[in-house]
Amino acid sequence: MAFPDAVTDAWHMVALASDIRPGAVRKVMLCNTPIALFRSASGLGALIDRCPHRNYPLSRGRVENGALTCPYHGWRFAMDGTCVEVPGCPAAALPQSKLAAQALRVIERHGAVFVTLNGSAPDEPDLPPDVGNPDLDHFWWQHGTWQGRAFDAIENVMDPFHTGHLHHGFIRRRDRRLPVKLVVSSHGDSIEMAIEQDAPDLGIMSRFLERDRQRSISRYYPPTIVQARWQGRAGLTLCVTAIFTPATDGSFTPFARFSTRKGLAPGWLKQAAIRLFLAPVVAQDRKALGLQHAVMTHFGHPQFAEGPGDILGSRLHRLWSGHRLSPGVDDGVMAEL
Ligand code: FES
Ligand SMILES: [Fe+2]
Repeated sequence: MAFPDAVTDAWHMVALASDIRPGAVRKVMLCNTPIALFRSASGLGALIDRCPHRNYPLSRGRVENGALTCPYHGWRFAMDGTCVEVPGCPAAALPQSKLAAQALRVIERHGAVFVTLNGSAPDEPDLPPDVGNPDLDHFWWQHGTWQGRAFDAIENVMDPFHTGHLHHGFIRRRDRRLPVKLVVSSHGDSIEMAIEQDAPDLGIMSRFLERDRQRSISRYYPPTIVQARWQGRAGLTLCVTAIFTPATDGSFTPFARFSTRKGLAPGWLKQAAIRLFLAPVVAQDRKALGLQHAVMTHFGHPQFAEGPGDILGSRLHRLWSGHRLSPGVDDGVMAEL
């Protein structure tokens, strides 16, 4: 199964910048393409993880004098893929058209490393508001590569109806649901769902992290980003920017950036509290997405019944596939979450 062009052609976050220290080489998967990511003294390089000589994985190589050395015969490749040395042969005899490795565009922003497989992608990754806002405290979270489809993970975070059931006690409660109003707005190139409620959720996460929630908004920025913002009377309480990088057809690498207002509590304390409460919720979603994917794989394809709570309908998938939505606001939907 291939990804839509809108997915393959985008910029994708593939690593935390702090994980690619000078001299490090790391293999990452992006849309079924293995990539050798490395950092030399002069910056980041990203090469397709396939030595052009005899197809040894370049990600097993070492960074030496600003170039990546293939462990098999020792050919050396600069960050732009140029073959700068074939050991034992004169440098003058290096016809680049035949010997170069395939380089990808790579960029570092806000502590994250982005790569694109598309030579004509825009100059910069398009990121949602506040990801780089210096007035907020931020930290990145990552937890390996998960089984499941990136798209199903996006649908999971945009779906409030599983939070009381799967995450019973942590986010909401299945035995004491609260009345809410759900309002969906389509913005052409994105879609958002606002949840309006009078009282905070009854799960322990809300009790510790927010006092006076009035509104939470989740917005999908295709192809791979969902940003959720929680607002209380005093303004923004918490902003989570979740990025679901497709690794293969059946796996994805999630990253999340947590942003909070400065001054409420020290950054390290907020980070520790969020990580503590996040761990069980993340484990529940990871398990659910893996099991869901195993069933779809067994039956050979997904097959979804649209229930009354699936109010985003096919719109997430249309955006994922590169289509636009007609702008507009749906009638509010009353529900109990
Ligand atoms: S396979 Fe890489 S140098 Fe020969
Ligand atoms: Fe969840």
